[in-house]
Amino acid sequence: MINKKIKKILLKKNRSKIISLTAYSKNIAKILDNYCDIVLVGDSLANVLYGYKDTHKISLNNIIQHSTSVRKGIKKSLLVVDMPKNTYKDIKSAKKNARLVINKTGCDAIKLESNQKNHKIIKSLVKHKIPVMGHIGYTPQFKKKFKIEGQTESQIKELYKDAELIQNAGAFAIVLECLSPKAAKLITSNLKIPTIGIGSSDNCDGQILVTDDMLGLSGFYPKFVKKYVSMDRIIEKAVKKYSKDVKLGKFPSSKNFLNGPKRR
Ligand code: KIV
Repeated sequence: MINKKIKKILLKKNRSKIISLTAYSKNIAKILDNYCDIVLVGDSLANVLYGYKDTHKISLNNIIQHSTSVRKGIKKSLLVVDMPKNTYKDIKSAKKNARLVINKTGCDAIKLESNQKNHKIIKSLVKHKIPVMGHIGYTPQFKKKFKIEGQTESQIKELYKDAELIQNAGAFAIVLECLSPKAAKLITSNLKIPTIGIGSSDNCDGQILVTDDMLGLSGFYPKFVKKYVSMDRIIEKAVKKYSKDVKLGKFPSSKNFLNGPKRR
């Protein structure tokens, strides 16, 4: 039986845009849950939170821990968790690790970066009732150098073939990362499953961004990111004020002395 939340996502194709963002912790997830159809615990947490130069060092335990926190903030959106690099190299390990992620975190689905070789893995996971979201284009687990994918007719053909294989393997949706508008359009208009774009124009059924990027916290603002707020400046202002208050003896004041109600 298909998960109700996944069914809702599928029904959005050609009707309304699918809204997605990433989260790595409960407090952010709780805010996103009111506005997002999909919340992704992305392995981008490697760069964004842990400060690694790529996504490769994130372990299954890291992702499980963050997803467990995110789960606590989510009531209505679909929670998707990224499988870290090297955790789905073959059918056996993919099944074992995906089951572990689902059982430990209570997420609704997993995402894996697709290459021309892992369609069989997707097929097997789906056969074993593990919902899978695919991911093509710029896939940082497999590609060293960033480039816009699908710039020539033959590259577009390859990407389309790949997307179709992922759909046929049973994935319920597919992330298109940094694809040319032409490639995104061809794939989105021909696939039955929804496409979620990042840096792939508006020719997609939905959009995803890394939350820390759009909040102005990560310091990573390529052209495809729209910075909606400069949270770094807002936080700095508050921290500066706190520091000043403590130095001047303005905090804590009698209002903050512990004789009142308990903390949450
Ligand atoms: O890891 C991540 O955050 C992702 C998104 C960029 C789609 O895969």
